[in-house]
Amino acid sequence: MNERIPDEMIAVVLHSYEGPGGLRVERRPVPSPGRDEVLVKVAASPINPSDLAVLHGRYGFRPDPPFVPGGEGSGTVVAVGPGAMGRYFQGRRVACLWDGRRDGAWAQYMVVSTKGGALPLRESVSLEQGATSVINPLTASAFIEIAKKGGHKAIVLSPAASSLGRMVNRLASGEGIEVINVVRRDAQVELLRQQGASIVLNSSDSGFDEALRDACHQYDVHLALDAVAGELTARLLRALPSHSKVTVFGALSFEPAQATPGQLIFENKSVDGFWLGPFITSKNLVQTMLMWRRAQKLLSTDLKSDIRAEYPLEDAPRAVEEYVSQMTGGKLLLRPNE
Ligand SMILES: NC(=O)c1ccc[n+]([C@@H]2O[C@H](COP(=O)([O-])OP(=O)(O)OC[C@H]3O[C@@H](n4cnc5c(N)ncnc54)[C@H](OP(=O)(O)O)[C@@H]3O)[C@@H](O)[C@H]2O)c1
Repeated sequence: MNERIPDEMIAVVLHSYEGPGGLRVERRPVPSPGRDEVLVKVAASPINPSDLAVLHGRYGFRPDPPFVPGGEGSGTVVAVGPGAMGRYFQGRRVACLWDGRRDGAWAQYMVVSTKGGALPLRESVSLEQGATSVINPLTASAFIEIAKKGGHKAIVLSPAASSLGRMVNRLASGEGIEVINVVRRDAQVELLRQQGASIVLNSSDSGFDEALRDACHQYDVHLALDAVAGELTARLLRALPSHSKVTVFGALSFEPAQATPGQLIFENKSVDGFWLGPFITSKNLVQTMLMWRRAQKLLSTDLKSDIRAEYPLEDAPRAVEEYVSQMTGGKLLLRPNE
């Protein structure tokens, strides 16, 4: 029997681009799915660094406030709009990806496109794991693909004790790729060592730059993946041999990535960027579905996200503050319908 869909729902709404302070928990109309769209009753949605960037208006899309943020989530399809895929999705458990065109996942209901916004979950994947199954797992898989295609036997990774960093370490170890891990606190060194990482360097240590340079030359590293940006990008470039690249995939420092003219001109080093969305759309449907299928198989092992705490939607502003105060150690999940 079809579930009754209410007219109104609870949602977390961003009213201005001022960070977590711009959030309010409100009642909003439940959205209706249009052509090639489905309505998902949201079970869980994590707080990710990209959500923080959204709250500050620093993400790759910037909807006009007020709007509901929330980059990914999981749930059950409870209504479908017109279009060829609707019947396939009706009643299915899915992972949802927000594209900025409609509202995001921090709400009891969310409309997503059947063309990339809803990904069917295998039965073995819980809705909790499903909520964090897209952004980091597919990015970790993409990084390994990039490293292998580029013939990189070793890479630098920063910040390495993040959920994504720990996934990359587990996948890399299975592929025989050495990871030179960069973190900023001793507790993170310990965390990664316990996971089996052999090289973990703390950027707060006085000997960091020299140790990183030695490791990069010893392992002949030519690729660094950096989500901190700011001055760390220039420090990574300085440590790498000539003809190397730093790929910036985040800006946790909220600072512009730095590079000196000498690094770019005379040492032939470069800086580029990575964003999961365009990486996936560069693939055809079969390649994307294969990547999704492989990722789901590894969700309880190499691509697992630790969940630190769960919060009802009403407590979302507090949960965001809690997450900002300490990001390492697992995701905070919002549970909109509990
Ligand atoms: N471009 C893409 O398509 C894409 C896709 C997925 C993820 N990402 C990026 O990947 C990064 C990791 O995501 P995640 O979900 O794995 O993060 P996470 O699990 O929430 O962990 C964030 C980590 O970053 C550290 N950190 C925060 N601010 C820092 C700073 N200024 N300097 C150094 N370290 C800092 C935190 O350490 P503390 O505990 O010390 O704060 C924590 O270890 C994020 O930047 C995210 O946006 C990008």
